[in-house]
Amino acid sequence: MSVLVTGGAGFIGSHCCVDLATHGVDVVVVDDHSNSSPRALDRVAELVGVEIPSYEIDVRDPAELESVFAAHDIDAVIHFAARKAVGESVAMPIEYYESNVGGLLNLLRTMRAHEVDRLVFSSSCSIYGDADDVPILEDTPPRPTNPYARTKWMGEQILADACAVETAWSVMALRYFNPVGAHESGRIGEDPRGIPNNLMPYLTQLAVGRLHELSVFGDDYPTVDGTGVRDYIHVMDVVEGHRVALEHMTSPGFRSLNLGTGTGTSVLQLLAAFTEVCGRELPYRIVARRPGDVAELVADPERAAVELGWRARRDVLDMCRDAWRFQQENPGGYEPA
Ligand code: UFG
Repeated sequence: MSVLVTGGAGFIGSHCCVDLATHGVDVVVVDDHSNSSPRALDRVAELVGVEIPSYEIDVRDPAELESVFAAHDIDAVIHFAARKAVGESVAMPIEYYESNVGGLLNLLRTMRAHEVDRLVFSSSCSIYGDADDVPILEDTPPRPTNPYARTKWMGEQILADACAVETAWSVMALRYFNPVGAHESGRIGEDPRGIPNNLMPYLTQLAVGRLHELSVFGDDYPTVDGTGVRDYIHVMDVVEGHRVALEHMTSPGFRSLNLGTGTGTSVLQLLAAFTEVCGRELPYRIVARRPGDVAELVADPERAAVELGWRARRDVLDMCRDAWRFQQENPGGYEPA
């Protein structure tokens, strides 16, 4: 089988390439490297022992994408390529809709032209917004609260509408909760550009001395200790979920599934777990809530367990250990020291 991975040099994409290639899948990557390093793919090749054909293109470019589909006999697509920073999406909505919705539409047109009928779409728990009931079931009505989350919810609706007419298509939207961690080799991991927005890369960069203090965004939420609760999930569990999803896409239609663990962890609990793993005290300060944040997002992971036979296997300490290993071995990320 041959799978096109868009955004294959990014955090989740690069781990997905390793997992697919080690399971005998031929992988082709497109990535514009706007938020990823081509070095990630060198590391992927080193880990799996084969070169991964990769194209530096923007998925919105019809001619470029067409040339990739013409050059490879692609059976299925995993579509990660997108912008993903919530705060940035509020400041740059047009760019977010253009990349995330426009990129998806161009991909779908190209897939249709080449009769590629299987797609896994990278969706997000952020589409649920401030859900009334936690853990969150897939049937919870989406209430996205920012442009990023709306692009993901629109993507799902576009795919459901497309599957109604493209009757051979099998499409699965996977709604990730909070992917963190790294491949256990320490060779690939999360390497955000600039100061990290997300908690785990902030912690790893703090521990390695690139940052000086964690700001904990609010301690007055109605949660176990007042700080925000999230369902952190190991990136290798996430990508294994994609492979298993592809294997299960034998019947046509559109489906959405949560990829989470079902376990919530607060900011202070994650800080404590990470402190235990890295063996040093990390300075922090409680500050105001971050605009747009919600108190608690935790998956009900049962539907994926029933439909795919897939469950996350790694716990929060595994996530901290692997994220820390990557950061320690690559203090400057993929950039040479
Ligand atoms: N947090 C802090 N300090 C920080 C960063 C985060 O206290 O410096 C808190 C947040 O307030 C939140 C928790 O840590 O309670 C997790 O925040 P993240 O920024 O790590 O992740 P989010 O839950 O905000 O999730 C967002 C998007 C998801 C996306 C995820 C990873 O909503 O769709 O980032 O990109 F998947």
